Amino acid sequence: MNNISTDILKAKALLENDNLVAIPTETVYGLAGNAFSETAIRKIFETKNRPFFNPLIVHIHSKELLNEITDNLPQKAYQLADAFWPGSLTLVVKKKDNIPSLVTAGKDTVAVRVPNHPLTLSLLRLLDFPLVAPSANPFGSISPTAAEHVARYFNDSLSLILDGGHCESGIESTIIGFEEDEAVIYRLGAISIEDIEAVIGKVSIKNSKESAPEAPGMLLKHYAPNTKTIMVDDIEQYIQESDSKKIGTLTFYKKTVSHKVLHQEVLSEQKNYKEAAANLYQAMHRLDNMGLDIIVTERFPEENLGKSINDRLNRATK
Ligand code: TXA
Ligand code: MG
Repeated sequence: MNNISTDILKAKALLENDNLVAIPTETVYGLAGNAFSETAIRKIFETKNRPFFNPLIVHIHSKELLNEITDNLPQKAYQLADAFWPGSLTLVVKKKDNIPSLVTAGKDTVAVRVPNHPLTLSLLRLLDFPLVAPSANPFGSISPTAAEHVARYFNDSLSLILDGGHCESGIESTIIGFEEDEAVIYRLGAISIEDIEAVIGKVSIKNSKESAPEAPGMLLKHYAPNTKTIMVDDIEQYIQESDSKKIGTLTFYKKTVSHKVLHQEVLSEQKNYKEAAANLYQAMHRLDNMGLDIIVTERFPEENLGKSINDRLNRATK
C-alpha cells in the first residue's frame, strides 16, 4: 500500500497543515495530530468516531518539555518520568492554558508521555508542537500493533501511515494520575504495577468508569473483536461442551488439546508476560480475520502484566 512509508518529512508537512498521520509507538500505533490545532483534534475524533468526553494523550520527545504543558508536578511524577521515559507510562498532570480543552475533554488535567520509538521520537524532534495520539483504531475495536492493522482500518482516510514495524510492548501505556499527591493507576498497561511500586511505593488502582470518573473513556466494553469472544477459567472443558463449529483459542503458554479447535494462538510458550503482552493484539487481529464462530480465551494469572492482559480481555469479551 503506497501510503505506508517511513517518510518523516512527509509526516512533518502533513502535520503542519493540520492533517493526521498514523505513528508507531512501542505500545500501539497512534492516530496523531498537532496538539495545538483544533482542526486536527476534531479530525482525530471524527476519524475514530470517538466521543468527545474521552480525552487524548499528548506525546512529547523529552521530559524537559513537561514544563510547557504543566506546572506544579508532584515529586512522584518526576520520579516516574525519570524511571520510565521514554516509555510506556502516561502521567495525568495539571494542564496549562495552552492545551486546548478539546484535548482534555474539558478537564483541568492532561495526559502526557514520551513514547519510546526511534521513528516517532525523530518526528517529534522535527516539529515545534507536541502530538495528540489516541490508538489508531475505530472507537472500541482492537488496537493496532502493526502498520497493516492501521491500513485495514483507515486506508482510505489517511494519507500517511508511518511504518515502524511491530510494536515492541504491544499493549497500551499504563496511566497514572495523582490525587492529593497519591499515585493512582487509571489504566493498567505495558508497565506492571510491580515495576511502578518499585519506584514510588504503594499505588492504588481505579480502572473502571465507576471508581474513576477522573479518567473518562475507561469503558467496560473496548478492544473488542467483531467475532464473538468469551473468557473462561477452564478452556478444555468449555471446548468439550461447546456446539460451535469454528472455534479459535487464545492461551498463555499451553496449546489446547482438543481437535475441535480450528486455530490456536499461544501468546508465550516461555510463559513470559512481556512476550504475551507483545503478542496479544496481533493474535486477536489474526483470530478476528478467520471467519470463526467464536474466540475462546483463558484468564491469565493475576500478577505482573497478566493483570493488564486480563483487563484487555475482560473488556474485549463484554
Ligand atoms: O499507549 C498509549 O497510551 C497509546 C499510544 C498511541 O500512545 N495511546 C492510547 O490512547 O492508548 P487512547 O486515546 O486510546 O487512550 C487514552 C486514555 C483515555 O481513554 C483516558 O482514559 C485517558 O487516556 N486519559 C486521557 N487524558 C486523561 C486525563 N486528563 N485524565 C484521566 N485520563 C485521561
Ligand atoms: Mg484506545
